[in-house]
Amino acid sequence: MTEAMDAEFDTVAEWTAQAARHLGRDYYIPAGCRGSGNPAALDWLVERLGLRPGDSLLDCGAGVGGPAAYAEARSPVSPVLVEPQAGACRAARSLFPYPVFQAVADALPFSDNAFDAAWCLGVLCTTTAQREVLSELRRVVRAPGRIGLLVFVAQAGLTEDQQPEGNNFPTEQSLQRLLDEAGLRVEDRLRTADLPPIPKDWQDRVAAIDAALESRHGDDDAWKLSEENSGQMGRLLGDGLVSGEVLSLRRAD
Ligand SMILES: C[S@@+](CC[C@H](N)C(=O)[O-])C[C@H]1O[C@@H](n2cnc3c(N)ncnc32)[C@H](O)[C@@H]1O
Repeated sequence: MTEAMDAEFDTVAEWTAQAARHLGRDYYIPAGCRGSGNPAALDWLVERLGLRPGDSLLDCGAGVGGPAAYAEARSPVSPVLVEPQAGACRAARSLFPYPVFQAVADALPFSDNAFDAAWCLGVLCTTTAQREVLSELRRVVRAPGRIGLLVFVAQAGLTEDQQPEGNNFPTEQSLQRLLDEAGLRVEDRLRTADLPPIPKDWQDRVAAIDAALESRHGDDDAWKLSEENSGQMGRLLGDGLVSGEVLSLRRAD
């Protein structure tokens, strides 16, 4: 991981949980949704993956754990979190009561067919081991392979030097190839640009978390790096050079 990614996914993840604990329980889930900022994307995935009470749900690259907690609040699933960054693991454990494994998605510490469903949100483009991540998801989720992805996809015109350091955005073609190689098919998809706007009360809570982080850590290099990185990502999405895609997958066979 690059210094900027360490700052965002480790140091700032832990600070975020501290700020959320200070603000109160209502802030935990919005604070914990670091890549999948629009709850409508999570609603869509909960529905398309057919998450039912009691289903085990693996969240790969779970960050601070907000998406898993959101899913459990919608439909009482049993989440299990995997996250490589120690600070994010501590953050998730401090906010939510789920098992958290410090591990990478490309070498999952689980047996075959261990889960009913899994998702991996905003993670694929942060690793070069994309094929392995998809193969591992297919391996650990039992048939029919209910797997959700949020992927940031490079559009025509994105040049190498416009990619934030450490990001590897697949193209539509390379993503399709990776899915084929992993034995997965797209059952349904949507673009994050087509989602309804983020509800105001959710935005207000995110703004309160950001204000608390800015006031506590605004002079810190890790905060500045993390802000630079997310600003760059926002501009790429705004300029249409990268698009957010939400995919509901199943085993191809
Ligand atoms: C943009 S954040 C998304 C966090 C969370 N999924 C969410 O939507 O709030 C990307 C996460 O992927 C994690 N990550 C990066 N490489 C990974 C890998 N090889 N396996 C699992 N997670 C990884 C990072 O540590 C970070 O927490």
